[in-house]
Amino acid sequence: MGEKLFLLACFMLLSCSSMGTIDLFQNENDSSYKSIFILAGQSNMAGRGYNNDNSTYPPEYFLSHPQILMLDANQTWKQAADPGLHDGIDKRFVGVGPGMPFANRILIENPEFGTIGLVPCAHGQTSIMQWMKGNETGLFTQMVNRAKVALQGGGEIKALLWYQGESDALHYEDALLYGSRLVKFITDVRADLGLPELPVLVVAMMTGDGEFKMLVREAQMDIKLPHVVTVDAKGAGIKTNDKVHLNKAGSVEVGKRLADAFLEINEEC
Ligand SMILES: *[C@@H]1O[C@H](CO)[C@@H](O)[C@H](O)[C@H]1NC(C)=O
Ligand SMILES: *[C@@H]1O[C@H](CO)[C@@H](O)[C@H](O)[C@H]1NC(C)=O
Ligand SMILES: *[C@@H]1O[C@H](CO)[C@@H](O)[C@H](O)[C@H]1NC(C)=O
Repeated sequence: MGEKLFLLACFMLLSCSSMGTIDLFQNENDSSYKSIFILAGQSNMAGRGYNNDNSTYPPEYFLSHPQILMLDANQTWKQAADPGLHDGIDKRFVGVGPGMPFANRILIENPEFGTIGLVPCAHGQTSIMQWMKGNETGLFTQMVNRAKVALQGGGEIKALLWYQGESDALHYEDALLYGSRLVKFITDVRADLGLPELPVLVVAMMTGDGEFKMLVREAQMDIKLPHVVTVDAKGAGIKTNDKVHLNKAGSVEVGKRLADAFLEINEEC
């Protein structure tokens, strides 16, 4: 094999392993190994769908499964179930959201995927400023700490899932600065976790009555950072009694889109 080809192969191996998809030092067959996903953002990530709503959705997306675990508010792994993914984390009403459908979709598409470890960190009504490193809310630190605790049991952080922005669509200045704040937030998370190429799936939000929603959506669509993929929530079903929150069918739709986007970038390696 030519020298160039060999170098190319090395480069590919290196760039894949640093993305966390191939790891030469960790055994994916190890029973404690988990593919870890951080769930962060505001209410639509935490879940506000009614468990008994009348939307039409495939029920298998909400199955509790021994291969889908969650790190609970007491930093303990347990089998994940919704509603309840964000119990004790988001102190507001916790309903059904896209987390379970995301995990179920991965296993439906790829039954050999192994164990999934969800790390719920979302908080309703938060703005991106409140999520920035150093903000007195402590949201950033709590998230990074939970991710580190999650790693202690064995596994790798495969992606950060970010669904937020409804709060920032209420004020022109916040909407205008959303893009640069998001870049800084992602850069800081990656630095603090020591994962410079951590894949990030950003949902382009589409609900709420924020006057500057389109500005926030544009920033989410246009973000230019490597290994960041935007997933559009447009068209996903929302609850009949409010204009902000996904219903169960909408949660499945967004969860599926997130999973498909993840599987696509995961396959590239
Ligand atoms: C679902 O539909 C039934 C019958 O129309 C209704 O009584 C119930 O309140 C609905 N559930 C929700 C959560 O909207
Ligand atoms: C965490 O532990 C406390 C004390 O044991 C318990 O009261 C609480 O319900 C637990 N929270 C969760 C989300 O399991
Ligand atoms: C934290 O966020 C709040 C809400 O946006 C903001 O008013 C405050 O200045 C931020 N604090 C820091 C240290 O950036």
